[in-house]
Amino acid sequence: MNVVVGITGGIAAYKAVGVVRALVLAGHEVHVVPTEAALRFVGRPTLEAISRNPVHVDLYEGVAEVRHVAIGQAADLIVIAPATANTIAKLANGLADDLLGNTVLASEAPLVIAPAMHTEMWRNPATQANVSTLAERGVTIVGPAVGQLTGADSGPGRMEEPEVIVRAALAAVGGRAEDSAGRRDAAQGDLAGRRIVVSAGGTREPLDPVRFLGNRSSGKQGVAIAEAARARGAEVTLVAANLEIGEPGGCDIRRVSTALELREAMQTAAAGADAVIMAAAVADYRPAAISEAKIKKEPGDAGLTLELVRNPDILAELGHAPHDGTLLVGFAAETENDPERLLALARAKREAKGADLLVVNRVGWTEGFASDENRVSVIGAGGVVVAELHGSKLSVADGILDVIAEALTDHPASEDTHAR
Ligand code: PMT
Repeated sequence: MNVVVGITGGIAAYKAVGVVRALVLAGHEVHVVPTEAALRFVGRPTLEAISRNPVHVDLYEGVAEVRHVAIGQAADLIVIAPATANTIAKLANGLADDLLGNTVLASEAPLVIAPAMHTEMWRNPATQANVSTLAERGVTIVGPAVGQLTGADSGPGRMEEPEVIVRAALAAVGGRAEDSAGRRDAAQGDLAGRRIVVSAGGTREPLDPVRFLGNRSSGKQGVAIAEAARARGAEVTLVAANLEIGEPGGCDIRRVSTALELREAMQTAAAGADAVIMAAAVADYRPAAISEAKIKKEPGDAGLTLELVRNPDILAELGHAPHDGTLLVGFAAETENDPERLLALARAKREAKGADLLVVNRVGWTEGFASDENRVSVIGAGGVVVAELHGSKLSVADGILDVIAEALTDHPASEDTHAR
């Protein structure tokens, strides 16, 4: 997809580099259009190196190629991050006094903006009116987030994190997918006509009305897979267990909390699907009994012993039931340091669970869970490593989907599957 990233003059411009990088790693052709003010915060060489494309800023350069409209006309998506109060005002009023303004006016692509400014500027009625005008016109507004601002103050006004912006931007395209030759819509993506079920997040097993046993899965990896599959044209069901991030657009979301709820949702959604991808971190055990009242400390007790019982293994149940026509993809989260032993564990897990593909990631205090990046190996038939992927969770998601798309090429699409 051809993406224009507009960068305007605020301190958060340095974070826009992360937006550009994530889009490039996800396989998109990215053209950066900074304003003059943005270049005071981040240098043109950085933007050219990260985007892998020349960066244009001057309205009067490239006149022969009618650049002031050509960039916008060729765009499939425009993302402006950060969007200052000044730029938001100009966009709301259709002003075109720089290359970015011309690019936006000359484009019919979805526009996504990530406002960033001080709280007072954000709350100013003029800014709020401009934001409402843009939202009414269908512009996607991402953030701002609440938190520490440039000075000592904090409040709403921080630019959203790059991965949140990228996720919202791709969702705004509404499932359009592309090929190397150019633009295509969702109906033509390489997963068009496919029904894909993804689980994401971590289950929570209640102990009493206020406590649970859980894990640190944020849902980022599973949500990235759902988003990427949607963008490539698939019909996506996302079984979401306690996500710590926003839900993706364009997917059928089934919210669950416990492993037993996840199991029921997966069994229902998996029937007739082309692929089922189990990225959720599922509790292997749950408390044998859930206390109706908050568990209290007893005077003088030295500790508390909890009795746990095994949860069903959802992936293994799906893997050992007949699942003709459904590609089953499991994950393995392992703390093993040795790369060969890590692969051996993954191969054994693939066999034991009856999965067609198994994606193994090393996890730890700072790896795998909750992080923005991931490093995985994908194991296929016979324990062969069919892909090694690393980068943003979105780029890893696309790499996993490349393997899945390839594996599905011999299978009829789900409409046909349902008819059988
Ligand atoms: O959500 P993030 O913060 O982005 O983190 C991503 C992740 C690290 C959680 C993800 O990449 C990942 O590894 N997910 C699988 C976590 C896990 O439960 O791994 P496991 O090795 O314990 O389980 C193996 C497979 O069996 C998984 O597909 C799991 O979904 C499934 N399982 C596990 C236990 C169980 N009772 N039922 C299952 O179906």
